[in-house]
Amino acid sequence: MCKITDAEILRFITTEDTDEAEELFAAARKVRAEHYRNEVYFRGLVEFTNYCKNDCYYCGLRRSNTNVARYRLSLDEILQSCKVGNSLGFRTFVLQGGEDPYFTDERVVEILRAIRGAYPDHAITVSVGERPRESYEAFFRSGANRYLLRHESADEEHYAMMHPSSMSLRARKECLYTLKTIGYQVGAGFMVGTPFQKPEHLLEDLRFLQDLQPHMVGIGPFIPQADTPFGNYPAGTLEQTLRMVALARLLLPKALIPATTALGTISPVGRERGLMAGANVVMPNLSPREVRKLYALYDNKICTGDEAAECRYCMEGRIRGFGFVPNMGRGDVAGWQPPAVS
Ligand code: SAM
Ligand code: SF4
Ligand code: FES
Repeated sequence: MCKITDAEILRFITTEDTDEAEELFAAARKVRAEHYRNEVYFRGLVEFTNYCKNDCYYCGLRRSNTNVARYRLSLDEILQSCKVGNSLGFRTFVLQGGEDPYFTDERVVEILRAIRGAYPDHAITVSVGERPRESYEAFFRSGANRYLLRHESADEEHYAMMHPSSMSLRARKECLYTLKTIGYQVGAGFMVGTPFQKPEHLLEDLRFLQDLQPHMVGIGPFIPQADTPFGNYPAGTLEQTLRMVALARLLLPKALIPATTALGTISPVGRERGLMAGANVVMPNLSPREVRKLYALYDNKICTGDEAAECRYCMEGRIRGFGFVPNMGRGDVAGWQPPAVS
């Protein structure tokens, strides 16, 4: 168990000393290697709807953004994306979308049952935001194994500066603890460099993660999207995001931590640098190429013009180039015992 003090964490969050940062990254790589050697796990991401009823101030999918053409994938299109992914070797599918009321529990269950029926041994991750416990239970019974729900900020005040008053940190946290008790492998996380974020907020984010003990941690830089209230704020920096990835690795040694697309967007080698800072997951895109540009959380998102196969092999090359070994298996968290489904 890593007993790093608040003062030490704050120093790493703010340091501009590159030697100190390199030491942090090396320590994170060592901890990761103890549980995952130098393997990097692949997840196939299917962005199945860009409709959202929420209005987060940072996100291009927010309901008030009238400049984005909205789309929903049909069940057939989702299954086709999974089919392509399966043939490319993916054994985890991640179904992500805005909070879209069209996708009622019944519709999500129908999708999950269809994917589970076709791929009994694959992992299915869902990421469709906040829902009541009964919905999460229904998804779990229908074949979902994992759930991604970033907490976004563990500080009440900061959370309230990024979201309208209809959303609350308390509700977000409650969902995360509920998902854990149901038996999901759960992913929390946050953006680095969001407007009004202070080093103390990032410290709180890390301490919250230690309390929640999620199986996955998504950390990426905030990147402005021009049509949002935060469109004129600067993006988070590569260096600070990398330090947060490394700190998360030290505090949660077994966590599955993606080198995010957002990291790859702010730097051509951002994802590789993420792996060098302790990350161990990549999430190439399986969404049909026609819709990729429309899943515009932030500006200049990479991989929007590429086919699924291009991203899959591009990622493999990048990983090998940095001395890592791609692992196309399910990639459950180290020591994972699947709970019995009733
Ligand atoms: N709607 C679901 C939710 O909010 O949990 C899932 C999809 S949402 C688009 C996935 C993640 O995208 C969010 O948790 C947020 O951290 C990230 N995101 C949104 N806008 C972003 C931005 N401008 N820059 C970087 N990441 C962003
Ligand atoms: Fe909707 Fe998620 Fe974007 Fe918030 S972050 S507006 S919930 S898609
Ligand atoms: Fe998408 Fe390189 S990962 S083109």
